[in-house]
Amino acid sequence: MKGVVLAGGLGTRLNPLTKVTNKHLLPVYNKPMIYYPIETLVSGGIEEILIVTGGNNAGEFLRLLGNGKEFGLKHINYTYQEGEGGIADALKLAEFFADGDPIVVILGDNIIEANIHSAVDTFKKQESGAKIFLKQVDDPERFGVAEIDGKYIRGIEEKPKHPKSNYAVTGLYMYDASVFDIARSLKPSDRGEFEITDVNNYYIKQQNMTFEILDGWWTDAGTFESLFRANSLAAEKYQGKQSG
Ligand code: G1P
Repeated sequence: MKGVVLAGGLGTRLNPLTKVTNKHLLPVYNKPMIYYPIETLVSGGIEEILIVTGGNNAGEFLRLLGNGKEFGLKHINYTYQEGEGGIADALKLAEFFADGDPIVVILGDNIIEANIHSAVDTFKKQESGAKIFLKQVDDPERFGVAEIDGKYIRGIEEKPKHPKSNYAVTGLYMYDASVFDIARSLKPSDRGEFEITDVNNYYIKQQNMTFEILDGWWTDAGTFESLFRANSLAAEKYQGKQSG
């Protein structure tokens, strides 16, 4: 399977940290933020990776990551998202790269402790559709929130004021090749963006969505609080490895 890291957007929730640089280049403990999602893909067995970037300082990604040698990759693909169209809009830019294959998509500000290798293998066996990964959180209103009923997801609400559960939809998604047609069929949300939640709800309506609960800890890093949390979790993990 191929992997896509979505690292566009203006990161306005982190102003002024993002005034002169891209959110995904900010430090999370001892590495730039974007290292973490790339490492998640690589340790999950994904070797072909596309970085979708945008906004300011897009050229810095190339300077930082080059051909991905540091990650054991032979090559990294890059593309540029113009404007602030949202996650589903950025995803459309991956169609040429995916070339009919299923893809793993990860948001560039999501830091995941678990290894996703077995989830990738499970999805390879899923004939069509999509898979999302949920995690119980204390502040579900900040995320896409899934309403689940046993083995099934009834629907996802994006940043609901009154969440129906505390299962946040994490920024790790797996899609078959129909995702691009779905993304193209969407209308912008009230905040003027093409929402990944609308893509996922489309699959749910088609009864073609599976889910797993993500092992280990997970955090986004797009707000001051979550960036701070990402730093301490990454530091604990790193220090644990050094002493272990
Ligand atoms: C995005 C998605 C949301 C998801 C979150 C995970 O939100 O829209 O559904 O729960 O990522 O990090 P954003 O943080 O981009 O507003």
